Amino acid sequence: MQSNSKIYIAGHRGMVGSAMHRKLIKEGFTNIVVRASAELDLTNQQAVADFFASEKPEYVFLAAAKVGGIVANNTYRADFIYQNLMIESNIIHQCYLNEVKKMMFFGSSCIYPKLAPQPLKEESLLTGLLEPTNEPYAIAKIAGIKLCESYHDQYDCNFISVMPTNLYGYGDNYHPQHSHVLPALIRRIHEAKESNAATIEVWGTGTPLREFLFVDDLADACFLLMQTYNEKQFVNVGCGEDLSIKELVELIKNIVGFDGEIKFDSSKPDGTPRKLMDVSKVKSLGWSPKINLEQGIKLAYEDFLKGHFRNS
Ligand SMILES: NC(=O)c1ccc[n+]([C@@H]2O[C@H](COP(=O)([O-])OP(=O)(O)OC[C@H]3O[C@@H](n4cnc5c(N)ncnc54)[C@H](OP(=O)(O)O)[C@@H]3O)[C@@H](O)[C@H]2O)c1
Repeated sequence: MQSNSKIYIAGHRGMVGSAMHRKLIKEGFTNIVVRASAELDLTNQQAVADFFASEKPEYVFLAAAKVGGIVANNTYRADFIYQNLMIESNIIHQCYLNEVKKMMFFGSSCIYPKLAPQPLKEESLLTGLLEPTNEPYAIAKIAGIKLCESYHDQYDCNFISVMPTNLYGYGDNYHPQHSHVLPALIRRIHEAKESNAATIEVWGTGTPLREFLFVDDLADACFLLMQTYNEKQFVNVGCGEDLSIKELVELIKNIVGFDGEIKFDSSKPDGTPRKLMDVSKVKSLGWSPKINLEQGIKLAYEDFLKGHFRNS
């Protein structure tokens, strides 16, 4: 990509798309095309075709998707599979038809089998059954990977995929029911502190192990991959370290300043027991994260306090 290359960021108002937008501006890119979903519904095939025909982007970041935490994924199963399949199919096919020079698709660590060996290596894709609570979303994300690989094979398109671990950071979604675990905990613990609550209840046993990456670190990795990586094989992006939900809760409690009690409700689902990415490939390409979890949660909490977040 040159600094005047025409670059389309699909989903630029989301947490990942906005981090990519910030990164490109910081790196001096000046010809960035964006559309909110209210202006361009990416599930609409004709609208996407018209947009590509008129704008002719040279590079595309596909960060638009229907995204949510365990409850949203499990409740809106049809919406998650339908909307994600439509968005991916429409954009990836138009990238091919309009001779886009390079496209990056954002997947997710939920593509891996529930019981795949840890840390999760790229080679573990499609070696076992998925976690049932987010299976429709994961199937759509696997379809996105296979779309990129197939257009790579048949038409020699330079379409690459990245699989980020759990992300958090600026502009996250803090919706009480639809958000991911880390922003959901920040909100609940903050509200407990504000209302002087003595206890709060957290879903599950607290024992699942999870990995978290600050979204600006992801944007740095994706920028590097967009400039240097041209292989068919997708790439994991994570920090390579995990912690239990219980440890995460303690960390957030300390940062927010809540001294009440946390009760874990073990009657609620835990999801996959452990989800840690093997990130040796992306590290071998010259990237490593810069923001540790404590620093990152402080930054995210400051952002939350300023009201810079989504609630949908
Ligand atoms: N968040 C995570 O922890 C995480 C982890 C791993 C991978 N990822 C992946 O990263 C990507 C982005 O996630 P995110 O967290 O940034 O999600 P997000 O904050 O919810 O943003 C999603 C974006 O997609 C756009 N969008 C959704 N449906 C659309 C439609 N029909 N037409 C046009 N635009 C539409 C939204 O646009 P508007 O704002 O204009 O409505 C929004 O900006 C996803 O592919 C996700 O799977 C995220």
